[in-house]
Formats: sequence, structure tokens, C-alpha cells
Amino acid sequence: MKTLKIAAIPGDGIGKEVVPAAIDVLNTVSDIHGGLTFDFTSFPWSCEYYLEHNKMMPDDGMERLQDFDSIFLGAVGDSNLVPDHISLWGLLIKIRREFDQVINIRPAKVMSGVRSPFINPKDFDIVVVRENSEGEYSAIGGNIYNGEDELAIQNAVFSRKGTERVMRYAFELAAKRKKHVTSATKSNGITYSMPFWDKIFKEIAKEYPEISTDSQHIDALSAFFVTRPERFDVIVASNLFGDILSDLGAAIMGNIGIAPSANINVNGKYPSMFEPVHGSAPDIVGKGIANPIGQIWTAKMMLDHFGEEDLGNTLLTVIESVTNDGILTPDLGGKHSTKEVTNEIIKRLIAVDKKGVHSK
Ligand code: NAD
Ligand code: IPM
Ligand code: MN
Repeated sequence: MKTLKIAAIPGDGIGKEVVPAAIDVLNTVSDIHGGLTFDFTSFPWSCEYYLEHNKMMPDDGMERLQDFDSIFLGAVGDSNLVPDHISLWGLLIKIRREFDQVINIRPAKVMSGVRSPFINPKDFDIVVVRENSEGEYSAIGGNIYNGEDELAIQNAVFSRKGTERVMRYAFELAAKRKKHVTSATKSNGITYSMPFWDKIFKEIAKEYPEISTDSQHIDALSAFFVTRPERFDVIVASNLFGDILSDLGAAIMGNIGIAPSANINVNGKYPSMFEPVHGSAPDIVGKGIANPIGQIWTAKMMLDHFGEEDLGNTLLTVIESVTNDGILTPDLGGKHSTKEVTNEIIKRLIAVDKKGVHSK
């Protein structure tokens, strides 16, 4: 019997709706597998927690997370309660950085039964590999408050180590897929970091002669995402470019509510963290209509991470059978609630088991 200790952090807004839904699904996965159980511990760290404690997590919060096999997070942020940069840097970004979750994997592909806003998206099946610990997201900078000369400076940080690491990750991933890596750059306008990024991309590409490459400026690349989605496989991007491309990828899939993501710790010292691409969606919170698929697909990425790819693939097949039958939340044009979509996924998972496919 394998037991995985998971720290659940529902966070804010719809995080509190979709995390319990995905936990129900994971517990069903466990029931049908027989040899795998999840031991969830839930932490209430959120903007509401901040209002009470003046911090997003307790002082020993990171130590408490350290011994878990992984972290399963919903969303963080409620700007009516706490400014976003405080809540995010106090919880989500803090965990990514302090646990060396330096790679952020964000797949996007068109699912059967989910209408994309684009005409010919069926070949859209990409993975954004986002640098997750440096780049444009830095704590280096400052403000000068000086009347009409008021100024804010924000530095971007690109280390050779971090850049090589994310690029190698992208090439290794492409080797298992369609064997193409696109680098998202902007070396025509950004004078230091992006020429450096390009130089390292060329160096790493030489290590992988079997992988074809191209390099696109982020503006043109964004346009090609829309007009020529089939030309992409793996895209390697800086922290900010990867953030933007992954929402664009999610939109091409149909809506941001279905997009999954994984923050991977590559040095094996700390747990990895799994969270969907979307945020706390304040505009729909409490209505019971949040799309649970992003969080449930994120659970599939967690299963893959633990070497349970067969179970992960079964889960994704079940999700797609549900979307294919039009059992969708309103963001995808459907009429169903979070609960109805989740229960349908659970019901079909159990049906797969009854056919004996996964009983062990
Ligand atoms: P958002 O992703 O929360 O919402 C954008 C739009 O997508 C909204 O219209 C929302 O209703 C819709 N949407 C998002 N998820 C959905 C789902 N599962 N089902 C149906 N519709 C969904 O982005 P935002 O409005 O820019 O951010 C809101 C808050 O969330 C902010 O505080 C932001 O900083 C935070 N945020 C957190 C994360 C994270 O924790 N990983 C990610 C993005 C944004
Ligand atoms: C994401 C989010 C975060 C990011 C925000 C909320 C800080 O947009 O996970 O995509 O930019 O990384
Ligand atoms: Mn984002």
C-alpha cells in the first residue's frame, strides 16, 4: 500500500470550491486503485487567514509543509481583503521560491466537446515550460517618491543556472513529445536578459540535435498561437512570458477554468506543488459554477508526478468523456454546476473500475 501525504491549501475564492471537488475525485481514484491512498491535511492559509494573523501562513508554515509528498493548492488572492502582491508573495510565490519549484509545466490542448474560440484548434496540443523562480518576478527594485519625478524600478534576474535548467527541462520534455522546442524571446527590444536567453538557448539546443527548434519574439509568438497553433509543441519561456502564454493557451482550450499546472521541485529536496492556472475568480465565487476541471486535471499531473501515469491517463480520459458529452460548467457554455461535473467524473471513474480495468 502506497500512502501519499498531501498538504491541501484551498486558498481563496473558488479555490475553496474546486479543491474539495478534486479531493473527492482523488479519493475515488484511490478507491479504484486499491494500492494507493491519499492522506490529506488541509491548511486554511488565505487572505481571510491574513486578516486574523497579519500573515498568509504561520511562521513555521514552510517547515510544516516540508515533509509532505506534495502540495495541492487552489488559488490565492482576494484584493478586497489583501493587496495581491502581499497575498501572493506571502503564500504562492513564497512556496514556489523557497521550495525551489523552479519549473512550471502548463499543458494546453483542445478537449473533445470543448469549443475553442479559434477556427482550427484541434491540433493545439502544447506545453509551456515556464521558468518559475527568477526572471521578471524579482524582489529587486525600488521606488523613489519624488513628486512628479516619482519612479519605480523593477529588475529582472536571469542566471545561467536557472536559464540552462529550464531549457534542458523543455528539451527533455520535447524528446518525449513531438520533438520541437520554441523559445519565447524578446531580444529585439530587451537589451541584456533576452540576448543572454537566446545565447543559452542556442547552446542547449546543440546538446539535443534530434530536437528541432525555433525562436520567436513573444509578440509574434502570441499571434502565431492564435493563427498557427499546430506549429507548436513545447515552448520554453521566462517567468512572465510563460505566465502570459499559459493563459493564452488556456483561452485557446476554451477557458482558463480547465487549464492545469505543476510547480516542480527538481532537486528533490522539497515537495512539488500542483495548482491550476486560474485564480480565485471573485466574479463567480459562491455560485457553485466554478469549473472543477482545471483542478482535477492538475490532480492528474500530480498522479503522473508520482509515477501513476496509467491512473492519470485514465482520469484524463474520463474528464474528456464528460466534456465530450456536453457536461460542462457555464464558462464553457454548459449549464452544469461544479458538483454535477465532479460527480459525473466520479461516477464514470467508478464505472471504469467496474469494467475491471484498474482493479488491483
Ligand atoms: P482569475 O483566473 O481568477 O479569473 C479570470 C476569469 O476567468 C474570471 O472571469 C473568472 O470567473 C474566470 N475563471 C477562472 N477560473 C475559473 C473556473 N475554474 N471556472 C470558471 N471560470 C473561471 O484571474 P483574475 O481575475 O486575474 O484574478 C483573481 C484573483 O486570483 C487575483 O487576486 C489574482 O491575483 C489571483 N490569481 C491567483 C492565481 C493562483 O493562485 N495561482 C492565479 C491567477 C490569479
Ligand atoms: C499564475 C498566477 C500567478 C503568477 C500570480 C497570481 C502571481 O498568475 O500562477 O499564473 O503570475 O505566477
Ligand atoms: Mn497567471
